[in-house]
Amino acid sequence: MSQPCPDEADRRSGPVPLPLLTERHAGRQGLTCRYRCGNACAHEEPNRSDNEYFGDVLARAVSRRGVLRAGAVLSIAAGATTAFAGQAAASPVAPAAAGARRPRGLNYEPVAANTTDAITLAPGYDHNVVIRWGDPVVPGAPAFDFENQTAEAQAGQFGYNNDFCGLVPLRGSGERYLMFSSHEYTIEPLMFRGYDEDDPTDEQIRIGLAAHGLSVVVVERDRKTGRMAAVLDEKYNRRYTATSEFVLDGPAAGSDLLKTSADESGTRVLGTLNNCAGGVTPWGTFLSGEENFNQYFANAAVADPTVAGRAQRYGITEEASDRKWERLESRFDMTQEPNEPNRFGWIVEVDPHDPDATPVKHTALGRFKHEGATIRLARDGRAVAYMGDDERFDYVYKFVSDAKMMKGESSRAREHNRTLLTQGTLYVARFNGDSPAAEIDGSGRLPADGAFDGGGEWIPLAAGDRSFVDGMTAQEVYVFTRQAADKAGATKMDRPEDVEANPHSGHVFIALTNNTDRGKAGATRTAPADEANPRNNNAHGHVLELVEDDNDPTATGFRWSILLVCGDPNDPSTYFGGYDKSQVSPITSPDNIAFDGHGNLWISTDSGLALNINDGLYGVSLEGETRGRTTLFASVPAGAECCGPVITSDFVLISPQHPGDLDDASPETPKTTFPDGPGTQPRPSVVNIWRVGRNGSPGRIGE
Ligand code: FEO
Ligand code: CA
Ligand code: CA
Ligand code: CA
Repeated sequence: MSQPCPDEADRRSGPVPLPLLTERHAGRQGLTCRYRCGNACAHEEPNRSDNEYFGDVLARAVSRRGVLRAGAVLSIAAGATTAFAGQAAASPVAPAAAGARRPRGLNYEPVAANTTDAITLAPGYDHNVVIRWGDPVVPGAPAFDFENQTAEAQAGQFGYNNDFCGLVPLRGSGERYLMFSSHEYTIEPLMFRGYDEDDPTDEQIRIGLAAHGLSVVVVERDRKTGRMAAVLDEKYNRRYTATSEFVLDGPAAGSDLLKTSADESGTRVLGTLNNCAGGVTPWGTFLSGEENFNQYFANAAVADPTVAGRAQRYGITEEASDRKWERLESRFDMTQEPNEPNRFGWIVEVDPHDPDATPVKHTALGRFKHEGATIRLARDGRAVAYMGDDERFDYVYKFVSDAKMMKGESSRAREHNRTLLTQGTLYVARFNGDSPAAEIDGSGRLPADGAFDGGGEWIPLAAGDRSFVDGMTAQEVYVFTRQAADKAGATKMDRPEDVEANPHSGHVFIALTNNTDRGKAGATRTAPADEANPRNNNAHGHVLELVEDDNDPTATGFRWSILLVCGDPNDPSTYFGGYDKSQVSPITSPDNIAFDGHGNLWISTDSGLALNINDGLYGVSLEGETRGRTTLFASVPAGAECCGPVITSDFVLISPQHPGDLDDASPETPKTTFPDGPGTQPRPSVVNIWRVGRNGSPGRIGE
C-alpha cells in the first residue's frame, strides 16, 4: 500500500541499528514517511547547490600539508568502529539516573525507554486526554463517527495529526487558555476503511482537506484534580482548513510569482498545509510553519524550465500527487496553476483573541519547509524569529523585524504588533568550526579542543524590498528562499527542526533531527561531516547551542557548540554535554524543544524506532555539573511521535501524533487503540500530564 522508507525492513527485523555500522535512514514508518513528507527520505535531497562548508577549505589546506596526520585519525576511527562492533545492541532501558543529583525542575524518576503501547510517565504523574481527532471544536459540530465521516463534520472537528500545541491564558475566566494546534497531515489509509490510494473518492479528498489546518480551542484546567478539558466556546473556538482564506503580507505579497487565476492580486490564498511546529509570540499570537507543502502539488514537469527548476528545489513531484487532490481542485496541478505552490511554505500567524481576523502568511520570513518559528525580543523591542528548514542539507534562518513591539493589551498595540513580521531583514546561518577539518572524521569523535564548536555569521538575504543576493530580486529571495540561501553559501545542516531561544539565558537551541545521508559514500547529493554536523550517517541527530554576539539576537555573528550528539549512550559516537553517559536515557531524533521556568531544555523526539524505542519527552539540564543530563519523562504509544510539548510549572502537554502508524496498520488491523481502548481506532490527541501531589492535588512539575 505504501512505499516504506528505505530502511524499513532492516530496521524492524533485527536488533537496534548502530549508527557506525549500518547504512540506513533514520526514517519513520512507511505511512508517515509517505503522508507527512512525501517520502522525502526515499528521494534525493533537493539541495543540489555546491555551496561549500568553510571547513572544506580548511580540509583541502590540511590535506596538502598533512595527509599522514589525517590518515592516522581515520585509522583510529576504524579501530573504534571495530571495537564497537563487539558490543551489544543499544539497551532499550534507560540507565537509572537515581544516584545523581537531580536538577531543579527535573526531579523525576526517569522512565525506562520502552516499546509499551501506552502513555508511560515518570512515577507519581498522571494524564488525561484533552482532545482528539474528530472531537467537536466548533459548537454544533457532530460527535466523531469513524464509520460515517463527512467533510462538513470534519471542518468543525479537531483535525488529524496535531503537531504543535501552544497556549495563551484567557483572561478573566478562571484557569482557561486558548489552545492552538496544527494538523500537519492526514494518513488516509488509517482514516478510511478500504481506502483506495489510486482512486480516492471526492468526499475522502474533501475530508482530507478539512482534516488539515489549525484549531483554536478553549481549554480549562481543574486546579483541584489537574485534569484539563476542551470547552465548546462559541466566541473563540474555530478551525482553519486547507480551504480557509489566508492573507499574504510583506514584501512579496502581490508579486507576480504569487498570482493565480483565482487570485489575480497575489495576496489571498485558500488554506494552509502541513503545519508542523510553531511558536507563541510575546504579543499573544500563534505562529505555525508550513512544512512539507510540496507533496500536495502534482505535475511539476511543466514546460517552463525556470518554473520546473524552482519546483525541484522544493521537492515537488513531476507526477501525480499521493493524495490526488489535483483531481478535485486544479490549483494543485502545476500544469494549470504553476504559481499555486508558491503560496505555501510560509510562516502563518493567527491571533487567537480575534476570531474575525483573517490569518496571515508572512512573506518577509521566507519560503521553505518551515518547521516553525519562535520569537525572541531584542533589548530594544524588535522581534527576532528563529526558523529551521526541515530537509536534509537545508538551512537555519532568522528574521529581525524593523519595528519594535508595543507593550500592552490595547487594540492599538495589538494592531501594531500584528505588523511586526511584515518588514525586516531575513538571514541564513553559516557555521564555521574552530578545529582543523581533519579532526572532524565523521565518527562523532571529539576534536582535540574537546568540543564541536566554533563561530558563525548570519548572512543577510533581503531586507524589505532590497535583495542582498546577486541575480535575485527581493521578491525572488522571499519566494525562492532556498535558492537565495544556496547562493549565499549557507551551511548544509542535518534537518533543522525547532530553533528556539531559552528565555533564561537567551541561548538559542537548534534540534537537528537526523541525516543518514551525511557523508554517505557514493551518494550524488551528500556533504561530508563538518564540525556543526560532525557525524556521518547521522541516524540519531544532535542539538546545537548558539550564542549570539553580546547575547543580542539582532547580532550578525555568533558562537556555537554542540550540546548533544544523540543515540544510545553506549554508542561511542554520542555526546551528552560531557555528562556521565551511564546516567542518561537513550534519545534519538530530537525534534521539538521547549524550556521550563528553571531554564531546563525539554526535547520531544520523532523516530524512536531508530533505537527500537517509543518516542518521548526528555528533560535536559543545561547548567553546572549536571549540564547534558538527559532523562526520559514520558513516552508515547506504539507508532506515535511525541509532538508539541508545552511545559509549565503545573502541567505538561504533549501531542501523540500518528499513533499506531506501524507496518501493516489499517482500520481492520489497528496497531494501537490509543486513546480510547479496545474496539476503537487510534486518534491523534493532546494529552495533559500533571504531578499527583499530596492529598491527590496536583504538585509542581519536576520538583
Ligand atoms: Fe514536521 Fe520537521 O517535522
Ligand atoms: Ca572545536
Ligand atoms: Ca517536527
Ligand atoms: Ca516531526
